[in-house]
Amino acid sequence: MTKKIIIDTDPGVDDALAIMLAFNSPELNVIGLTTVFGNVAVERSTANALILSEFASYPVPVYQGQGTPMQRDTPNYPDFVHGADGFGNIDWPASDKQAESQNAVDFIIQQVRANPGQISLVALGPLTNLGKALEQAPDIAGLVEEVVIMGGAVHTSGNVSPVAEANIIGDPHAADKVMTARWPLVMVGLDVTSQVLLSKEHTAAIAEANPRQGELLYRACDFYIDYYRDELGIPGCMVHDPSTIAYLIDSSLFEILSGPIRVATDGLAMGQTIFAPAGRRYPYPGWENKPNQQVCFKVDKQRVLDLLIDRLSHPPSLD
Ligand code: RIB
Ligand code: CA
Repeated sequence: MTKKIIIDTDPGVDDALAIMLAFNSPELNVIGLTTVFGNVAVERSTANALILSEFASYPVPVYQGQGTPMQRDTPNYPDFVHGADGFGNIDWPASDKQAESQNAVDFIIQQVRANPGQISLVALGPLTNLGKALEQAPDIAGLVEEVVIMGGAVHTSGNVSPVAEANIIGDPHAADKVMTARWPLVMVGLDVTSQVLLSKEHTAAIAEANPRQGELLYRACDFYIDYYRDELGIPGCMVHDPSTIAYLIDSSLFEILSGPIRVATDGLAMGQTIFAPAGRRYPYPGWENKPNQQVCFKVDKQRVLDLLIDRLSHPPSLD
């Protein structure tokens, strides 16, 4: 059964890898890309999503979303990680397509209400669009198939601070609202995504096998992989967003624990995802009466990498 998904995204180099993986996977039907600020400004993430939508073998509309967080100030865009253009400073030509006139939040609400139990929301950026959708239409919590987010860090270091991961700290108030909503949520965080590394040899092989999609990915990954080499001394880039799409394709690649998740919304720990194992009671309030969500703690990293490389090397036929 093909999963209908909406990908909420801030492309972003690893978002590009993830979106192409989704386009190339018969298990998934991407009914729309909704954009948000994060790696770049929302106008740029929308332009990049339009570029990516050209690489699908079926029509994928793009809907522009929120450009600023719900409450905190807008964080600086990490151009040192994804480039000023979000694609590793490769100046890829803009698409001549336009985003839809409907905004991302209204699209998410409309689609979830029109397809009860059938839409999976997949968030690869800050959770502002999902937070706004919950605020405007709380009923959608009971209507989604599931919510799968790339974000957070529980038993491993953050990447923006020692405790905060970028998507969560990008809008911590939205993240806490999303984590505590009564909908089935899976958190694919740095505990697993930081283990899956894509090298320049991998991206070269993908571009060789699939030049149509691979050229953009190969060129965009160059800057992104250099960041990981220079900053962390590792031989490849962490494929955070593609690992999240891999969960949707085959959840058996991951092991999960269940329990409520809260997000610190200010102070030194802002953006920390704080997980309480299901059933554990604490004297300090905050996790009681909150829904158990699913957090990925283990991953078969080789199988995720093999899936990513295989699907990006073998696009569906265009006829
Ligand atoms: O922390 C990694 C996440 O932040 C990824 O989604 C990356 O694209 C950025 O959005
Ligand atoms: Ca992202």
